[in-house]
Amino acid sequence: MDLRSIVFDSIKNIEILKDVDNLFDLLKFNADVSNGDIALPCFALAKTLRQNPMVIADNVVANCTGDVFEKVENVNGYVNFFLNKKVVFNLVVDNIETKEKEKNGKTVFVDFSSLNLAKYMHIGHLSTTVIGSVISNIYEFLGYTVKRLNYVGDYGTPFGKMITAIKRWGNEDDIEKLGVDYVQGLYVKFNVECENDESLITDARNWSLKIENNESEAKRIYDKIISVSITEAKRLCDILQIYFDSWRGEAYYNDKMQPVIDELKEKGLLKTSEGAQIVDLEEHKLGACMIVKSDGGSLYATRDLATAIDRYDTYKFDLGIYVTSVQQNLHFARWFKVLELMGKDYAKNLKHVSYGTYSLPTGKIGSRFGKQALVKDMLDLSINKAREIITTRGTKTEDVEKLSKDIGIGAIKFGVLKTERLKDCVFDLEASLNFDGETSPYIQYTYARCNSIVNKCKGMDVFGKEDDIDNIDTFEIVKHLNSFEKTIIDSATDYEPCYISRYLLNLCSLFNKFYNNYRIIDENRVNNYRLRLVEKVKEVLKTGLNLLGINAPEMM
Ligand code: ARG
Repeated sequence: MDLRSIVFDSIKNIEILKDVDNLFDLLKFNADVSNGDIALPCFALAKTLRQNPMVIADNVVANCTGDVFEKVENVNGYVNFFLNKKVVFNLVVDNIETKEKEKNGKTVFVDFSSLNLAKYMHIGHLSTTVIGSVISNIYEFLGYTVKRLNYVGDYGTPFGKMITAIKRWGNEDDIEKLGVDYVQGLYVKFNVECENDESLITDARNWSLKIENNESEAKRIYDKIISVSITEAKRLCDILQIYFDSWRGEAYYNDKMQPVIDELKEKGLLKTSEGAQIVDLEEHKLGACMIVKSDGGSLYATRDLATAIDRYDTYKFDLGIYVTSVQQNLHFARWFKVLELMGKDYAKNLKHVSYGTYSLPTGKIGSRFGKQALVKDMLDLSINKAREIITTRGTKTEDVEKLSKDIGIGAIKFGVLKTERLKDCVFDLEASLNFDGETSPYIQYTYARCNSIVNKCKGMDVFGKEDDIDNIDTFEIVKHLNSFEKTIIDSATDYEPCYISRYLLNLCSLFNKFYNNYRIIDENRVNNYRLRLVEKVKEVLKTGLNLLGINAPEMM
């Protein structure tokens, strides 16, 4: 509920305001609540009402009646409304919705994670995987049908390189036996050796062509590589509790590109430039979108065009979201424009959601396969550290392993989710696992605290007088709880999971202050109003954590 509607309902019939059409929109929340919760700036009405703002404000103050206000005052033509805390408590607390909305009939796809299968999942893939899954959760919560798509990179020269490496130094049968580590190791060796051995590059190119032409040996080895890579990626996604509706990768669209090229030609959009086929986007200040390379090869953009068209046929989506790093901004801007020029109306419903760099402090975790830390190593490290912390703290739990995972994995995810997605950030494991910082364990701990209070209160005698809620600490929580739904909507609109992260951190700090200052249980009797508040905080924290894909432990 928008608290302004409480004010609106009680002033809309005042004679002087009766004919003001935009009255609701004129009401503003005060940043400083010592001036009242909500204000009506009367200078905005002076012209239409042909009255002095002071006169209007005095009139409104004089005619404000009812128990919804504690106080109404005119300060220099601003009417400041101080809401009655008890009234708001009773209006709001039981009405805060934390249930998923009913289906709205709209479909959105989220293309995220989409890792290149030739590479191990490393820290560079965390942001897209985590942000994409949270955006999916948020849209689903708001009633959309969500398709989570992992457009894996299963096409291109890396696979020719891998086959070359396997043929030279390895053994095809070991692929399935030894899994992705084996293939990955050979790939790294290839990249080192090819510096001195040109024939490797030629071989790799040949194998790539053979894969493309579906030649049996190439295809057989390729399929094995893909299969072990997908198995490993799925294993990691399982640990992260992130799921997909489709793992259809780039290769699937191989035969869907020619029709796109034909259509572009037909529509007069293609131009030859230095032997390549391009769509000139100079007019749109986007340079050119390359469609066919001078050697006849297809490109990333062409494939994305084919993919979007195919997805529209499949899903008739209302919104399509692509989550990748900022480095790909221009790529998306270009092909979105090409799709628009092709006359595809749905081009306007595609959205590129980009993010900054997420890294570790230098030298923290090296990787066997290059400079970047592997997600599986980060997870292990974080879970181990969490186990150590809960053991030292003597944290209450029935299942140390499960709790270590909830905390450890939560911390890795929250590291990505806590700041604006475009900001570059450095992940600090120690700080992320601090129970008292701006961290996910802090939120989980507060949730567990609420849960333990609620359990403790079961079966106790109940008392409560309304005056118990007439204080600013309670009121702040009530107002904050009340803004939960708006926070979710705003985070969907701006594709910003961090709104929810920050919302939860604020809720925890308001709640913990309340918890320290007020007794919920007094001589074995439960203060009913306060308990209602704890129950709501608990419910909202759980829903919020769920949206972020972080587990809420009942005990901690
Ligand atoms: N595989 C690509 C990469 O790792 C990301 C793909 C993003 N999705 C897309 N439809 N282009 O850079």
